[in-house]
Amino acid sequence: MRVLVTGGAGFIGYHLAARLQDENCEVSILDNFNSFYDPVLKRQNVRDLQQRGPLRLYEADILDDRRLRQAFEETRPQAVVHLAAWAGVRPSLENPALYANVNVTGTVNLLEMAREYRPESFLFGSSSSVYGGSERVPYSETDPVDCPISPYAATKRAGELLCHTYAVNHSLHISCLRFFTVYGPRQRPEMAIHKFARHILEEKEIPVFGDGTSRRDYTFVDDIVSGIIAALRVNPRFEIINLGESRTTTLLDLIAHLEQALGKKARRRFLPPQPGDMLVTYADIEKARRLIGYRPVIPIEAGIRRFAGWILGAS
Ligand SMILES: NC(=O)c1ccc[n+]([C@@H]2O[C@H](COP(=O)([O-])OP(=O)(O)OC[C@H]3O[C@@H](n4cnc5c(N)ncnc54)[C@H](O)[C@@H]3O)[C@@H](O)[C@H]2O)c1
Repeated sequence: MRVLVTGGAGFIGYHLAARLQDENCEVSILDNFNSFYDPVLKRQNVRDLQQRGPLRLYEADILDDRRLRQAFEETRPQAVVHLAAWAGVRPSLENPALYANVNVTGTVNLLEMAREYRPESFLFGSSSSVYGGSERVPYSETDPVDCPISPYAATKRAGELLCHTYAVNHSLHISCLRFFTVYGPRQRPEMAIHKFARHILEEKEIPVFGDGTSRRDYTFVDDIVSGIIAALRVNPRFEIINLGESRTTTLLDLIAHLEQALGKKARRRFLPPQPGDMLVTYADIEKARRLIGYRPVIPIEAGIRRFAGWILGAS
């Protein structure tokens, strides 16, 4: 299968592209190597992919129609996995226009290409953030999602709605996958697990926003990749599907897991809660189980050990 992964040089994109290579797909990635975090890490991801197997690389912006068309024209993808985005809740509060541009207009650009080049499947990387401030858990795909609490969340919801319009108006097969806090080797450096681990290793204080009882559904990246591949195989007409681990961990327990896995004590500094942060995320994954046979297999303790093994090797 010919697969085009946008944002393929990033954290999830790397792991997806590697799995697709293992499955003998013809993998192309498109990424603009932006500076949201150190692009050297993204270049390293691409080098590692190139060493693993064949890979076509488009260094291009999803806002650049001409380059996007060139990628579609040359690769004629049978599947598109659209992961390119400005990620991160807190920075989106500082720069909403940038988020809207890349995450909404960029997604429309991808959907327009899909309308013209007609891949058999199109997957959109959405986010648990669309559930907003809702405290009714676990989050189900049938819950209302009209109250995002960050521009990032609003752009992801907008992306889902746009995907729906293209599915119904242009008979495309599109699935929107709502990822719940993804972690693992090569995780974005500004995300909590990665940042905390570095601070523990460097004996710096860990900023704990709130009282540490906020809870997240942390999902190991290999499980997310398995969910993406399963969605590609089943290829529903139009669906929104949660991909999480379906267990929650408090911030304080997360730090304790990291301390244990890294063999080092953390120094905690309690700070006021941050705007845009959700108190809890927790995925109901019944639909994913039923529809695409999704079964996450890496519990947080094992996943954190694997992450720690990577960061100790990488630092
Ligand atoms: N990591 C998570 O916990 C998580 C949770 C929910 C949703 N998501 C979504 O999954 C996707 C991948 O996330 P990630 O954690 O791997 O992030 P990432 O930042 O590592 O990957 C995104 C990639 O997209 C690229 N990109 C950004 N803007 C681009 C543009 N205009 N043109 C071309 N490429 C561009 C970046 O350079 C980056 O390599 C994103 O859409 C994100 O919103 C991630």
